[in-house]
Amino acid sequence: MKLSVIGAGYVGLTTAACLAQIGHDAFCSENDAEKLSKLQNGVMPLFEPHLEGVIKAVRRAGRLCFRSTEEAIAWGDAIFICVGTPPLANGDADLSAIEGVARAIGKRAAGYRLIIEKSTVPVQTGAQLRKHLSVHSTNGLRYDVASNPEFLREGTSVEDFLHPDRIVIGTDSPRASDLLREIYEPIVKQKFTCPIHSSCPKRQGPIFLATDTNSAELIKHASNSFLAMKISFINMVANLCEAVGADVTKVAQGMGLDPRIGSSFLNPGVGFGGFCFPKDLQAFIRIAEKSGCDFSLLREVEKINQGRIELFVEKVRRELWIVRGKRIAVWGLAFKPNTDDVRFAPSISLMKALLADGAAVRAYDPEATEKARAILPEVTYCSDPYQAAEGADAILLVTEWDEFRHMDWKRLRSAVEQPLVIDGRNVFNPEDISGKGFRYVSIGRLDALPRQLSEEKVESSSFRAGNNAQEVTA
Ligand SMILES: NC(=O)c1ccc[n+]([C@@H]2O[C@H](COP(=O)([O-])OP(=O)(O)OC[C@H]3O[C@@H](n4cnc5c(N)ncnc54)[C@H](O)[C@@H]3O)[C@@H](O)[C@H]2O)c1
Repeated sequence: MKLSVIGAGYVGLTTAACLAQIGHDAFCSENDAEKLSKLQNGVMPLFEPHLEGVIKAVRRAGRLCFRSTEEAIAWGDAIFICVGTPPLANGDADLSAIEGVARAIGKRAAGYRLIIEKSTVPVQTGAQLRKHLSVHSTNGLRYDVASNPEFLREGTSVEDFLHPDRIVIGTDSPRASDLLREIYEPIVKQKFTCPIHSSCPKRQGPIFLATDTNSAELIKHASNSFLAMKISFINMVANLCEAVGADVTKVAQGMGLDPRIGSSFLNPGVGFGGFCFPKDLQAFIRIAEKSGCDFSLLREVEKINQGRIELFVEKVRRELWIVRGKRIAVWGLAFKPNTDDVRFAPSISLMKALLADGAAVRAYDPEATEKARAILPEVTYCSDPYQAAEGADAILLVTEWDEFRHMDWKRLRSAVEQPLVIDGRNVFNPEDISGKGFRYVSIGRLDALPRQLSEEKVESSSFRAGNNAQEVTA
């Protein structure tokens, strides 16, 4: 089928490349001229495992090209809208890019088009799209609108697109539903040449869930808000563990063994970031508010997450006593491993706080350096983790890139000023790191307790429930 994809970001590029990979012809458009020119010249504007290889292959096969939005709109039988929906100051999703695309489609397209919202949008956006398409349509455009929320994760986007758990479509039109089934048939049947695996792990294929438009839109926001809630929940459990002398890793393991809970998203840390969870949570809260539903549960989820960096910086202050003038190595800048995306990344808020405290920050990330530099030029960016640790009073692990699991600790021991690791993702085994001669502090584990308090707690059986780690250990 002839498919157009508007917006060549993490979602649009993956969508266009993977749709071409499964046999369709795809036009992908981008309104950032520099990005578009890079793509046309075979240069990747972002880092995403496997994506560059897929794009090269499908372009060679003549099934993907990068064009202007006007050309893409005029060409495709179906148009996937994959533009950004960033947060406004009040938490609402900014839908101006979506509205701009709808206007362009109304003006440019003729005949029948299936218009698919893949960007994450508030419930009832489909209804707004229908209304605006009819207002702007000047060439006798006939159309259906469908919601097709995207669940891919940065870092594994190609794999997630080709081997998803579920494909959700929301439309009130049987024609749109049939077209979407046709588009996704190779994925549902897992019948395509997989660019990643020689033998694919998920042979079953995903559940294809067809709903009305509003429900599909809500599925996406509700899913991300639920996952955010799981993270904030375990982060509060980690605080409690620090306060009472328990190990959150064991608590999470014990919880996760219950299949109703599951073990994923039970890793405590410096909080969630990225272009999805923070803004989707905010947008969902606003949708509830505007619909007269009191979803203050989610406000707490957000508040807990916003407090994570301050709690982490407090650990740094507690360990270093005076932060001003100290050299601090930050390992990991991307909001998660295997991406170069630093949008709403915890590393950025953390480095801002450390700089405000007067520290000299030396940061390293395998992929995200340039994007972080554009936001915080006052940080010294290093070409490897050892260089970042040179003369450091503390090494802070912020993003759990695999590379950090294979460090030469002897080399690090002689590079640092103070042998101190503060692990914001509980990547290391406390005994391992102490065995290498480093003081080790992590999140919600027994090692995180200052020694004298740890002893006090063994003697005391009374828990001060409700206190957070700072209040108890200050
Ligand atoms: N990033 C993720 O992991 C992820 C996962 C699922 C869903 N989503 C959702 O998908 C949407 C896109 O996310 P993203 O991370 O790809 O964003 P992004 O910012 O990386 O990409 C959006 C792209 O659209 C381009 N654009 C804007 N208006 C355009 C127009 N009129 N014509 C052509 N291009 C235009 C922008 O220049 C940008 O390159 C968002 O709604 C997001 O919430 C993102």
